[in-house]
Amino acid sequence: MTHTPQFGGALRTNWHLQNGIYFLNNGSFGATPISVLQKQSEWRERFEQQPVFFTMRTLPVELRNAASIMGEFMGAQGEDIVFVDNASTGVNTVLRSLIPMLNEGDELITTSHVYNAVRQTMLYVCSLTGARYIEVDVPFPLASPEEVVERVRAAITPRTRFAMFDHITSPTGLVFPVADLIALCKEHGILTMIDGAHAPGMIDLHLDSLGADWYTGNFHKWLFAPKGSAFLWTAKQHQPTTHSSIISHGYSMGYHAEFDFNGTKDWSPFLCAPDGLAFMQQLGIENVRRYNRTLALEARSMMISAVPQPLPAPESMLESLAAIVLPCAIRTHENPMADAMAIHDMLWDGERIEVPVFPFATGGSVKLLLRIAAQVFNEAAEYKHLCDVLPGILELYNSNA
Ligand SMILES: Cc1ncc(COP(=O)(O)O)c(C=O)c1O
Repeated sequence: MTHTPQFGGALRTNWHLQNGIYFLNNGSFGATPISVLQKQSEWRERFEQQPVFFTMRTLPVELRNAASIMGEFMGAQGEDIVFVDNASTGVNTVLRSLIPMLNEGDELITTSHVYNAVRQTMLYVCSLTGARYIEVDVPFPLASPEEVVERVRAAITPRTRFAMFDHITSPTGLVFPVADLIALCKEHGILTMIDGAHAPGMIDLHLDSLGADWYTGNFHKWLFAPKGSAFLWTAKQHQPTTHSSIISHGYSMGYHAEFDFNGTKDWSPFLCAPDGLAFMQQLGIENVRRYNRTLALEARSMMISAVPQPLPAPESMLESLAAIVLPCAIRTHENPMADAMAIHDMLWDGERIEVPVFPFATGGSVKLLLRIAAQVFNEAAEYKHLCDVLPGILELYNSNA
């Protein structure tokens, strides 16, 4: 792309996305441009040309080079960054590293907007250590970012040891006030990890000044990198006690030694993170963010007209994702995900609209939320189609209640 790109459907030939589908879910896995996949093939070929030389000599240098480029982009020093396969691995790495330090009755805190896999990891670590899992009910609709901070403040106790906060929440698509949450936790001596699975690319990051103890994020969601490209940033004082979930030759030999090689694998997603970034830079980082945010807000307005409801959250908390509450009762109380999937499947099977529906528990009941994502290959007409068909699909769902 040498010319100023025109966003929307015209850009779609840069991806392998099927024709004729409404792909409104960049949020789950991202979408990797064809040109970045070609770069990935080149790295794989370089590996196959001399696998031993590549692993022993090329990889250590190139990984650190990629970490410095990505660190500079995220306001961090490359030496504090290691690559992990995905945000789930980043979260597991930190929570499992905490196990020796946790005692019975310690409290691990997060909010009800937490990603379910992260919730499960916290529950697992609690089951091993006797620590307590505390999930603070933060409602949706949500009035303000301050409400998040106040709810968390009220839940902190002298036993709170560790807090996990989403930078951008998964079921609700909101930008959480993580700097304020970290500051609050610091006042109480609580360690903080930020789950920034959606953050790189979508919002500006300044990891060095944010003040978290750990931060993980994906390059494959909003930064156009190949799948399996993510990072863990660790504050220097925790690097000696932060161990890879896969223990290998480098155990206890330093942060880079532990993470830069932990078994044979395909390293091309990490080495291509700078290529994903370069793709976004070619489009213009600010252009992409402005386009996506404007589109997400427009899509949300259309959805609220189609399915009338109070504003789910202030505009200031939105970037490239937006969720609404569906006026649908839960039918399968033992597994509300089945109801969410039923609506998802009606949209996909009947209309070829790919958009996620999530169960979300708050205030003692479970709601179903629908979340759109806006990426540069999307355009307003796609959300208009969703809004045209959504009321009919919800009527059908409700009539089968
Ligand atoms: C907030 C949040 N955390 C963690 C994850 C897990 O990301 P991954 O599947 O890349 O591990 C996701 C995925 O959507 C997410 O939204």
